[in-house]
Amino acid sequence: MNHWLVTGAANGIGLAVATELLRSDPSRRVTLTGRCEESLVAAIAELQPAAKARATMAVVDLADADSCTSLASTLKQQTDQLSGVFNAAGFLHDERIGPEKRLEDISSESLCRNMAGNCLPLANLVQAVQTFLPRDRRAVLASLSARVGSISDNRLGGWYSYRMSKAAHNMLLKTLSIELARRYKHLVCVALHPGTVDTALSEPFQRSVPDGKLFTRAYSARALLNVIDSLQASDSGSFKAWDGTDIPW
Ligand SMILES: NC(=O)c1ccc[n+]([C@@H]2O[C@H](COP(=O)([O-])OP(=O)(O)OC[C@H]3O[C@@H](n4cnc5c(N)ncnc54)[C@H](OP(=O)(O)O)[C@@H]3O)[C@@H](O)[C@H]2O)c1
Repeated sequence: MNHWLVTGAANGIGLAVATELLRSDPSRRVTLTGRCEESLVAAIAELQPAAKARATMAVVDLADADSCTSLASTLKQQTDQLSGVFNAAGFLHDERIGPEKRLEDISSESLCRNMAGNCLPLANLVQAVQTFLPRDRRAVLASLSARVGSISDNRLGGWYSYRMSKAAHNMLLKTLSIELARRYKHLVCVALHPGTVDTALSEPFQRSVPDGKLFTRAYSARALLNVIDSLQASDSGSFKAWDGTDIPW
């Protein structure tokens, strides 16, 4: 059994990770999940034929617990076990909310939206799919965080709600790694920073990125999967950058 589930897989880093998972191992199957059925169908249609045959999809809003319960039912029709779960769902801005520059910009709307977009999805996801994890062999639970969620690495300030929601995400991941290790002794739980990647999420902020520091989605996906490949259960509960270096919490 070699079946992965990737969230946020209709676009952005999630789609690149799903594509690379399918490309790099012809025995691997991947369930791509996203909120919009049309976008998932379009994403799968763009895959190479050999990859497409091993891709399935599930529509889920990870901020909605009922939707996550349906995810478990859909997944049950596709596989009994998951070798890996890669959570690429996240939020930074929309038409109403963007990162705060100063204290006065924080609102309950911006804070709640960031927590719902960056923290709640991981909790709902793991509640829904944890019974698919094997107890007798290595499996992976990877979730995209961001370096700006590091408290000790915070040198610039600003981006209050996003920083807080990623720090909360990291605490959730770390706490999960402790609880899940009691049942899934070979599980690797890891929070990952993908680098600054050319996606819709980073697009409004790309002008300040130094030359050569804006990664393609495919480059970041390959780097992140290399990091995952190098990890053992003894590394569970760590926070790693795309190049394998540890990020302080
Ligand atoms: N890009 C970067 O430079 C960068 C840097 C550091 C960290 N990250 C992190 O990497 C992750 C992926 O970001 P990205 O750059 O790939 O952004 P993106 O292209 O905007 O993708 C975000 C994905 O999350 C999905 N999503 C959001 N809320 C969801 C929900 N409630 N339920 C299900 N799916 C949901 C979106 O689905 P829809 O298509 O339905 O909206 C979308 O597929 C995020 O956690 C982000 O914070 C990115």
